[in-house]
Amino acid sequence: MSEYLKQIKETASFLIENGFKEPVVGIVLGTGLSELIKLIETEKTIAYENIPNFPLSTVEFHKGNLVYGRISGVVVVAMQGRFHYYEGYTMQQITFPVRVMKEIGVKYLLLSNAAGGINPAYKKGDLILLDDHINLQPENPLRGLNLPEFGNRFPDMSQPYNKQLNQLLLNKASEQLTNLKKGIYAAVVGPNLETRAEYRYLRNIGADLVGMSTVPEVIVANQVGLPCACVSVITDECDPDNLQPVDISEIIAVAGKADKRLSQLFAAVISALG
Ligand code: HPA
Repeated sequence: MSEYLKQIKETASFLIENGFKEPVVGIVLGTGLSELIKLIETEKTIAYENIPNFPLSTVEFHKGNLVYGRISGVVVVAMQGRFHYYEGYTMQQITFPVRVMKEIGVKYLLLSNAAGGINPAYKKGDLILLDDHINLQPENPLRGLNLPEFGNRFPDMSQPYNKQLNQLLLNKASEQLTNLKKGIYAAVVGPNLETRAEYRYLRNIGADLVGMSTVPEVIVANQVGLPCACVSVITDECDPDNLQPVDISEIIAVAGKADKRLSQLFAAVISALG
């Protein structure tokens, strides 16, 4: 057995022994997004540092906790904080939690992130449902030895974001009178934000929004057959002809303003997945 596979199984066993039993929905909360945690009837919270083989979160504004509990009776496991390539992790480390979620029985994966709006119709605080993505990160989580247990060597990506989940998100958004637009997410490494020329380039190649995460997790979710969906919060407007300086505290503040809407949307979707 490869060391990586051994670690996945070891971590999964640890979590199951610690009560993370039969989760239905896995959740990854992005930068500045944590309200959903308050909607969970929490049964267990384990800091990443206390989970064997879990990478440690290095970004101080990302909490590193794995939370287990229920939303409307549906069992969820939520990552409060994720791992980014810019922090120096390998792609295998970044996507380790997704493989562990699959191993402990998660059936659906809901992802979120903060992203820059490239599409001029997007405004700060908008929620965007990912319809597709463009991977501009230089590494791939599937590179290297592929054991049959990891899934297909050449996963199909014709529909990386699950159609039924996306439809459910749109239906629930409409019930909640929450505006949910669709878009194509470009994944870059970061951690610097983009130049004007880079935003122009991203728009030219067909991206509607840009961020530094999510795509590796989505690739692995597709490989292991875990239906996934992602909602991004637009935290800055990336108009190359009128680009305003932005810093991370602003990005976090804008994400915080959209956090409640996003959390209510996820909670409604989760209750329908039980
Ligand atoms: N670019 C890349 N990542 C981001 C941005 C951005 O403008 N905003 C939030 N995350």
